[in-house]
Amino acid sequence: DEPPYADYIRSRIRTVPNWPQAGVMFRDITPLLQDKKTFRVLVDIFVHRYMDQKLDVVAGVDARGFILGAVVAYELNLGFVPIRKKGKLPFDTISEEYELEYGSAIVELHADACKAGDRVLLIDDLVATGGTMIAAANLLKRIGAEVVEAAAIVDLPELGGSKLVQQEGISLFTVCD
Ligand code: PRP
Ligand code: ADE
Repeated sequence: DEPPYADYIRSRIRTVPNWPQAGVMFRDITPLLQDKKTFRVLVDIFVHRYMDQKLDVVAGVDARGFILGAVVAYELNLGFVPIRKKGKLPFDTISEEYELEYGSAIVELHADACKAGDRVLLIDDLVATGGTMIAAANLLKRIGAEVVEAAAIVDLPELGGSKLVQQEGISLFTVCD
C-alpha cells in the first residue's frame, strides 16, 4: 500500500555505502532537494497530507529536518519550531539523549517553543533506529504539546525505528523506504 509517488521520490535518493562509517548505507537526499521538480513534488506530498488538518505549529529536527520542515510550515501557514543538537539553542532549553545508527546524541527544545495543548506536526528527513524521532516527540510532549503525526521522507524499516516510533503511540508517515 505504497503511495503512487514513492518510486519517483525513491529514484532521486542516492545511497552512499560506508558513509559516515563502514557498514552504514547512507541515504543522501541532496539529489531530491536540488532538482526543482522533485523538490516541489516532495513538499507538495506533505502539504497535501496536512493542509486540512488542525495543526498549530511544525517542528523540524536539526539539520536535515529543517529543510523540509520550514517549507512545509510556510506552505501550511504555520510557524516553525527547531529541535536542535545540544548547545545550539540560546534560551531556556530541555534535552533528551538518544542513540543513533552511528553514535549517540542530545536534542534540545526551547521550553517556550509551543503552548500546552498545541497540535504539532513533527518533521525529519529519515527514520533509522527511531531514536531521533522519539526523542524529539518526547521533548514536545514534555512541554505539553500534542504530536499529531511524525513525518519523514525515508523509512529504513530494517533498522526497526518506524516500528518503535509507532509502539510509542506516535502516528508515523513516511514517503518511501
Ligand atoms: C540523521 C537523520 C535523522 C536521524 C535518523 O540525522 O537526519 O535525524 O539521523 O536516525 P535515527 O532514526 O537512528 O535516530 P543526523 O544525526 O545524522 O544529523 P543531520 O541531520 O545533522 O545530518
Ligand atoms: N541517519 C541515520 N541513518 C542514516 C542513513 N542510513 N542514511 C541517512 N541518514 C541517516
